[in-house]
Formats: sequence, structure tokens, C-alpha cells
Amino acid sequence: MSLTTASAVDYKTLVQDDRIHASLYTDPRVFADEMDRIFHLGWVFVGHDSEVPRPGDFVTRRLGREPVIMVRGKDAGIAVLVNRCMHRGTLLCPADRGTARTFACPYHGWTYDLSGELLGVPYPGGYQAFDKSAHGLARAPRVSTYRGFVFASLAATGPTLAEHLGAATRLIDRSCGLSPVGEVELTAGWVKHRCTANWKMLPENDSDGYHLGFVHSALFKSVRTQYQRVIGEEKSIKAVVRAWGHGHIEIDWSPGYQAPFEWLGGASGSVVADYVAALERRDGAETARRRIMQGPAHALIFPNLFLGETNIAIVEPVDLGQCLHWHTPMFLKGVPEFNGRLLRMAEAGMGPASFLMPEDLIVASRNQAGLQARAVEWLLLGRGLNRESVDAEGRVVSHVTDETTNRAFWHHYRSVMTAA
Ligand code: FES
Repeated sequence: MSLTTASAVDYKTLVQDDRIHASLYTDPRVFADEMDRIFHLGWVFVGHDSEVPRPGDFVTRRLGREPVIMVRGKDAGIAVLVNRCMHRGTLLCPADRGTARTFACPYHGWTYDLSGELLGVPYPGGYQAFDKSAHGLARAPRVSTYRGFVFASLAATGPTLAEHLGAATRLIDRSCGLSPVGEVELTAGWVKHRCTANWKMLPENDSDGYHLGFVHSALFKSVRTQYQRVIGEEKSIKAVVRAWGHGHIEIDWSPGYQAPFEWLGGASGSVVADYVAALERRDGAETARRRIMQGPAHALIFPNLFLGETNIAIVEPVDLGQCLHWHTPMFLKGVPEFNGRLLRMAEAGMGPASFLMPEDLIVASRNQAGLQARAVEWLLLGRGLNRESVDAEGRVVSHVTDETTNRAFWHHYRSVMTAA
């Protein structure tokens, strides 16, 4: 697959340790570089095993702006096919999801099997010595999964997924560990919001603990029990931000939790008791209690997967000033009754009439609008530089309102954008 070469943008100057240049959100050359270097050469989250359980099941997604089909093959493996007919380029499959035995192009009827091989061409007499095997669909050369999360890269070589994820697999483990069988399921369907902001605004905001008391003040006025622990006096807040390397970043609310299920706004009743009992059967009482105290991860897996506590979200770049935000509740396999509660959480936090996501999307669009100003060129990212520390595992940790996560995102970004 041919990939355009990087532009002459000077990323070392534009991304500094405590500030970044506004053109990173407004320069079309930067966006083009990002599509190549981050979304085509790097590992990108595509979907989850549970979305395509049977052979022929598929979903359509984008790797950056590259349309792809993630499909379960006859051999039960998952392939990521480029969603473009090899004849004259028509988008092969327009559906968001479905089940297919073949993919037939609507334009002239070329038909491909689930692995992308070209099966047939109507009126083949029009071609001389036509080699069908040379005209199969392009496909992502590397597809790899971790605990059901499927990632793909359009580059044939490069770091492995394990190298890309590094220690951040533990963030995924933390979420999966809340299921009594150790698996999550993304089976509720996705809600998509269009956001008039550069794609980077969303992962940055997802890992920003500074904005909560302002953008989401309505939530904390409604849920008063969490108010002091999340946005109270600066010194009383125990939650932290943490950088895991490779651009993977986290807000860890759990140091501030004082009781099980605070991440769920509290929980009680027989469905919850059955869920806890199932966890205890697998883990024992002590580990099960730790899991329900800590809750799921709140973390960005660079560049596009957000483990949003009880939700999973994807950011999809559309163009320089526009992106899509996808979200779905993170169901826990093995406890279908408990998942009803998680669905309610998704509606309250992420849906179009919820507390959180609409406010975040509006602020992101205001950020993008503000950055059109040319009189000021830099954004400041120095908050907390004076008090962050490195823990025993080499992760940078700081107060939840510090910009440690933003800096880690940008420092990895700079390394990707300047790599040879
Ligand atoms: Fe697909 Fe012609 S473009 S068959």
C-alpha cells in the first residue's frame, strides 16, 4: 500500500514540553500527516470480537479516512478489508453492520468472498487473460487482538500490537476483569455524534481532569455525593492522572472512591448481589471487592480508543475541523441482567440528552472556533509540571487536574510525527 510522505511541518518546534502550537489543529498538512503516520502506519482500534460473532458478520469502520470492513471469515478469523471495489473504486459495502456470504459491488457486480478474494466478474469475455487472483480486495496487512479488542495497521511492518500497547494492556485488563468471565461485549450498537472540532480535541478532553467542575457542573450539582471528591478543594481530591507510555493515558478516579460501585453512582438490589457473587466465585471476596471499588478504566488507548469507564468510545477523524464520536455501553459478559444498569449509565453519560458528552462536544467545537484566532499562536500545557512524579513502574503521575495526560499524548504524537 503506498503512503504519502510526510510534509515539511516542523513538529519538534510545534510540540514543546509545556505548550503546543495552534496550527496543529488548523493546518491541513498536519491533518494529512496524521492520517498517514498515526492512522495508517500505526495501530488503530477497529472494533471488538463480540461485534462479529459468526462467520459472515461484519461492521464497517474507518482507519483514519480509509474505509474498511471488519469481517469474520469462514475460518473464524477476523480480516480487515479495504472497503473499495478493485474495478473502479466504488464503496463496496455501505451498511454499518450485517451478515454476508459475499460482498457484491453495486456498480458492475464484481463479487468478493469474505476473505476479499475476487469470485467473479460479470461478462468476463470483455477481458483478455484476466487473473482474478490479482484483483482481490486490499486488506490491512496486520490485524491483531487483545482480549477481544481488534486493532489493525495498514503498514506491513512496524512495532507489534503488544509493543504498541505496552503496559497499557492492564487498563484493558481492568475493564475486562469486571466481567465474571473476563470478557466485555459491545453488542448494544453504537451512537454517533458529529463534532465540529479537530479529532485530537476528543482524546485530549477525555483525559483532562481539569474541566469537569466547569463543563459538567450540572452533573456535580445533581450528584452531590461525588462533588467534593471529584471537584472539591484542590488538596482534598485524591484522583490522579497517569501516563502509561506510547500516548496511552489515564484518569484514575479510584483513589477517591470510598465505597463499592461509586463509579456506577452506587448500586444495590438482587441483580447487583448476583453480580458480586459471580465475581467472588471466580476471584475470591478480596479481589472481587477490589474490582468493584476501583471500577473500570478511564483511559485513552492511543490514538482512537477510549475506555470510558462503563462505555467504549471511538474518535474518527473526518477532516481538519470535524470528527465523529462513537460510543456504546461496555457490557460485561456473563451478567446480562447487570448490563441493564450499564445501558442506563450510557444513556445518562454519553447519549444525546446526557450530562457529559453533549457538553464535551460543544466545548470541543468552541475550542476549534477559538483556535481560528491568529493573534495568539500557542496553547499552554504546563499545568502540574512542578508536582508530577514517576512511580515505581516508570509511569508519570500527578494531581487529576494536571496536564500530565495531555503532555504525554503530545509527546508521543511528536515522536510518531518525527520518526524516520
Ligand atoms: Fe465495482 Fe465496477 S466499480 S464492479
